[in-house]
Amino acid sequence: MLRIDIITILPDVFEPYLSEGMLRIAREKGLLEVHVHNLRDYASDKHKSVDDRPYGGGPGMVMMPAPIFAAVEDIEGKADVRPRLLLMTPQGRTFDQQVAAELSREQRLMLISGRYEGFDERVRIGLGAEEISIGDYVLTGGELPAMVIMDAVARLLPGVLGHHDSAKFDSFSVNGRLDYPQYTRPAELRGMKAPDVLLSGNHQAIADWRREQSLNRTRERRPDILLRNPIADNTRS
Ligand code: ADE
Repeated sequence: MLRIDIITILPDVFEPYLSEGMLRIAREKGLLEVHVHNLRDYASDKHKSVDDRPYGGGPGMVMMPAPIFAAVEDIEGKADVRPRLLLMTPQGRTFDQQVAAELSREQRLMLISGRYEGFDERVRIGLGAEEISIGDYVLTGGELPAMVIMDAVARLLPGVLGHHDSAKFDSFSVNGRLDYPQYTRPAELRGMKAPDVLLSGNHQAIADWRREQSLNRTRERRPDILLRNPIADNTRS
């Protein structure tokens, strides 16, 4: 069982997504537990402030450290396992399938979503939090990144996906390669035929074809994957 706590000033955006599809099933099966906390509940002034102007000037606002410390300490204090703390920021380690797999082996995660220009640096230092980015673009806040991470991690939890192989064989999972093309019925549509080999019943031929397609696609579309991870280019699976 994985427990995920989310700290945010927009708690309402999470529930609709958590209540549908695989995330709903993961929660119903007791494989995933999600708690969403409103950061404003931890503000100490009457305006419930969570942001302030940056020291040194400049545009925008910065997430104040004190409410985040208060939230993390309160939520941590109620549980026995110390969670791994992740701050959603574009400056962080880039999230990918490998990080998702790593996080899916944890017992507890705490995802902290900010808005505005970012977090006061003392949040990272004082809480020992890791920064995570979901890609090289800037969003208006860390809520979508938290949902992306939660979604990618949840589907890797044992028992969440129906067919036990469906997570093992998708893009980025077989030695980091892109997925091969998929076909389903009908065998011919608008003059386009599904490849004969897939209808041949010859499992070895199908496996060889898929491996070849997977490699070609990766070479054409994402040569960076093969450069970073030569294993993707030459292993026999
Ligand atoms: N906050 C804003 N943009 C982000 C990104 N790309 N990844 C994580 N957190 C963010």
